[in-house]
Amino acid sequence: IPVSPFVLVVFGATGDLSQRKLLPALYHRDQAGQLPDEARIVGTSRRSLSDEAFRALAKKAIEEHVAARDIEPLALERFLARLSYVAADAGGKEGWDALARAAEAEEHFVRVFYLATSPDLFGPICEHIGAHGLVDGRSRVVVEKPLGKDLASAQRLNEAIGRVFPEESIYRIDHYLGKETVQNLMALRFANALFEPLWNAAHIDHVQITVAESLGVEGRAGYYDTAGAMRDMVQNHILQLLCLVAMETPTSIAADPVRDEKLKVLKALVPIGPHNAGQLTVRGQYRAGASAGGAVPGYLEELGAHVSNTETFVALKAEIANWRWAGVPFYLRTGKRLATRVSEIVVTFRAIPHSVFDAGAGPITPNRLVIRLQPDEGVKLWLMIKDPGPGGMRLQHLPLDMSFAEAFGVRNPDAYERLILDVVRGNQTLFMRRDEVEAAWTWIDPIIETWQETRDAPKSYTAGTWGPSASIALIERDGRTWYEDGAL
Ligand code: BG6
Repeated sequence: IPVSPFVLVVFGATGDLSQRKLLPALYHRDQAGQLPDEARIVGTSRRSLSDEAFRALAKKAIEEHVAARDIEPLALERFLARLSYVAADAGGKEGWDALARAAEAEEHFVRVFYLATSPDLFGPICEHIGAHGLVDGRSRVVVEKPLGKDLASAQRLNEAIGRVFPEESIYRIDHYLGKETVQNLMALRFANALFEPLWNAAHIDHVQITVAESLGVEGRAGYYDTAGAMRDMVQNHILQLLCLVAMETPTSIAADPVRDEKLKVLKALVPIGPHNAGQLTVRGQYRAGASAGGAVPGYLEELGAHVSNTETFVALKAEIANWRWAGVPFYLRTGKRLATRVSEIVVTFRAIPHSVFDAGAGPITPNRLVIRLQPDEGVKLWLMIKDPGPGGMRLQHLPLDMSFAEAFGVRNPDAYERLILDVVRGNQTLFMRRDEVEAAWTWIDPIIETWQETRDAPKSYTAGTWGPSASIALIERDGRTWYEDGAL
């Protein structure tokens, strides 16, 4: 799909997100020949910088975050020439006239405002954009989490943005939706006849979603301590994954049909609150331990504090009250400083009703479909297979294994490459609608409130492990185990 000429104004252009993700993503798309000649990128922040100095910053960011083999001097030069810079005070008045002039473009241009800033600036920035006459049918605004810290603050943010931009011009990024394998989940479910008839409580025993990180909170402890794993990962990324696994078949993959179906899943989540949070949720916080062979500090040391009740790990058992999923547990877990970095969705099918094999054949393990988001993106379908040879009927549990790297042999584009271009193309399918974000908070709020009311400290776990033992107990109590690659 062709990309129209655009002017992209990046607020917070000298910040971490722009430098680490946005500029490298835009460079990659430019190098691939996808940016039209006229496309321009205007960086802005409070810092006073010349165009040249901003280009030098961008060059450094690209050299740091793009693989050396993808840096072509000519492509880099062409990309840097698209950049300019205007200093403006997001909260105040200074610099806005100059910024408005820089954002002017001919009729056929799309105008994108990317708010890579802290959310408390979203409202003021949108107001300025509106007051400077920059909102019309071709303007779009992009915002990113944290979209609130609870339902009330999310509503306030949505209202502030909505006073200036209509919903169809608001692009709320959840970068998990831009990951290749997440999109593949839709391909897997809706472009194959094989799975859909089995995709329900009659045939699926349970679903696991794990987003495990081996890193700690690094330099973000200040933000993280006000959020915790539930707000940072579950409210957005993990619930979005759950929606894509659980939603009904949309009438098309256009934005609203997909988002309507995701919303229904969020609304069908069985509430967790004071009556059941103790049984259905586990919170953890890492203490010092070892990661990648080296000693690593605990969360409190990284934070520079003696106490904090913030969780760096969550495991929970969710249920969706509808005809398709009633009674099927969705076990969700995420954490920092876990044993390894892995994100995957594991769908475990029900056991066969009766075995015709004798005991010598070995145990028959239920089928599993594993969708690996990262690293080593791919899909595995675990089946029972006969051991080769004349030794009689012995069965093994083995995967049909599709590694995307091996199958396609191409670099896996970063989520932002897809998402930024989708904004320019005007395709909202992979962005969250206001009601989805708010429905997610509606489910999350009572869980966090219950934790706050009970004042239980999160359970301590050693960095480099799989989290507190209570997380293992949460699933084992139901006679199930967390999936580990290679394990049955
Ligand atoms: C972000 C969270 O949204 O996602 C981070 O704020 C987390 O805490 C990150 O590390 C994980 O993203 P990815 O793409 O590395 O899995």
